Amino acid sequence: MARVAAAQSTVCANIALCKYWGKADTVNNLPAVPSLSITLDGLVTNTRIVLDDALEQDQARLSGETVTGKPLLRISTMLDRFRQRTGSNVYAVVESENSFPTAAGLASSASGFAALATAANEAFGASLNQGELSAWARRASASAARSLFGGYVELLAGSESASQVAEAAHFPLRLLVVVTRRGAKDTGSTEAMERTRLTSPYYGPWVEHAPKLFEQGKRAVHERDLAALGAAMEQSTLLMHASMFGAVPPVIYFEPATLSVIARVRELRASGIPAYFTMDAGPHVKVLLEPGSEAVVHQALLDVPGVVEVRACGLGPGPRTQTIPLAET
Ligand code: PMV
Repeated sequence: MARVAAAQSTVCANIALCKYWGKADTVNNLPAVPSLSITLDGLVTNTRIVLDDALEQDQARLSGETVTGKPLLRISTMLDRFRQRTGSNVYAVVESENSFPTAAGLASSASGFAALATAANEAFGASLNQGELSAWARRASASAARSLFGGYVELLAGSESASQVAEAAHFPLRLLVVVTRRGAKDTGSTEAMERTRLTSPYYGPWVEHAPKLFEQGKRAVHERDLAALGAAMEQSTLLMHASMFGAVPPVIYFEPATLSVIARVRELRASGIPAYFTMDAGPHVKVLLEPGSEAVVHQALLDVPGVVEVRACGLGPGPRTQTIPLAET
């Protein structure tokens, strides 16, 4: 073994309030619609990278499991860019742990690729700035561009990198992640959104309407208006899933418990508690609310039949990255 550098990064996942779904450019992975997200302190990826000039190829482990095939290729593709940028020909061992289920529609690719980019930047000494790191993370997974920043974050249509819209402290909402099924999902977001773009008659209307919801959501963040933000978020979620329903074959992430949770959120709201739902490319529901109503909503959601777990999240910071002394590797 001949270790030459090591670094680690801790990165929070993010959940979109106004969704990205569909690519304007599949080669460069540029989004077709603008998105607005919150970075979450309760969903965290820790990634450690060790550069070792005795290696003949990159190696990766995710939560102790060896990564092979396409997922390994996505990791190596990003590391190749760092090698090209720095003139290095050294391969790496990457070890990554998520504090939450992987590939289940809980934004593991967002925090995962943002953590890989920031840790590799440190280990290779590439000195990319935050905007460049966001652009590099975006090439692997567009939502990963947003995890380079804390608080409220936007990624504009066709844009290379994300940027912060507001600090977490500006509007310190809470998000409850309601897990409705154990295990990984059947169809990944990349495949599902391409199928939607290519086959769904509802894809065009989605792309046309999404920017209006994004503007509504962003204004609501600036004005600290949860009702307006929640309305934009719910419509963004349902329009995105409607576009998936129209795909051939259809993309359906809903489970029976998904609908039960949404119904419960609507009942809570009818009873005067401001709580709003969103979903991503998976069956889980995320519920946005004020800190004051968290305890009662948390219990109400745990009581819904089929709910496996409820995770409480606050708004989180951007990446925390550091070099690791070689003696400790
Ligand atoms: O970046 P990807 O390929 O993981 O796609 C993310 C898509 C959604 O989670 C459904 C929406 C979003 O904006 O994060």
